[in-house]
Amino acid sequence: EHVLLLGPPGAGKGTQSKRLAAEFDLEHVTTGDALRENKHMETEHGTPASYMDEGELVPDPVVNEIVETALEDADGYVLDGYPRNLSQVEYLDSVTDLDYVFYLDVDEEELVRRLTGRRVCPDCGATYHVEFNQPEEEGVCDECGAELTQRDDDTEETVRERLRVYHENTEPVVEHYREEGTLVEIEGEGTPDDVFDRLASELRE
Ligand code: AP5
Ligand code: ZN
Repeated sequence: EHVLLLGPPGAGKGTQSKRLAAEFDLEHVTTGDALRENKHMETEHGTPASYMDEGELVPDPVVNEIVETALEDADGYVLDGYPRNLSQVEYLDSVTDLDYVFYLDVDEEELVRRLTGRRVCPDCGATYHVEFNQPEEEGVCDECGAELTQRDDDTEETVRERLRVYHENTEPVVEHYREEGTLVEIEGEGTPDDVFDRLASELRE
């Protein structure tokens, strides 16, 4: 299956994509993680970090190349964090076709709470939240024991900018799939288990 998971920053795309990938044996393709792994790579447009730390989009040529390479190796996949503007939609159309397009709907103030309280494992990539999704031992990864950190772009100021960029560039992407008739809206509030059950039941149909 080819699954696309859309939603604003903090909607739970990463959390749910990982679970869907494990449950349905799909590749998790995420431009955010791929860019974070190559944050300081020099490109002709500068480093990804110079955009990401400000909450701006990394230029399309850099991101399109990441996606094309990742999709070449994937049979079934869950795509997370891409496409983020209409030109990326066009590029995606030229390299693959989609079976499911899900949109996670979450209230804006809830997004800010989720992002500013997020903690991540620098070693294995597991994601936690100081209130909503605590590790067994405070500040320590359940999976691998590493010390948890905060993402550089999870400060309140950068979170607000990411939301602004989302409204300007990525909402038109959601509208595009809605008009096309492929968009399935999923209630993104409730526990991670609730949201997962909603997604999984659509995929099992
Ligand atoms: P990216 O890494 O894609 O960030 P994002 O879209 O802002 O999404 P997030 O990872 O912040 O949120 P998420 O929806 O995955 O939520 P999560 O599951 O972690 O992109 C980062 C940057 O890279 C961009 O700003 C841009 O610069 C660049 N970039 C990436 N892709 C690009 C592209 N295509 N083009 C150009 N530039 C690109 O959950 C969030 C928190 O909430 C966690 O703490 C989690 O534990 C908690 N949580 C999750 N679910 C629930 C729940 N149901 N209830 C309560 N808490 C929950
Ligand atoms: Zn870990």
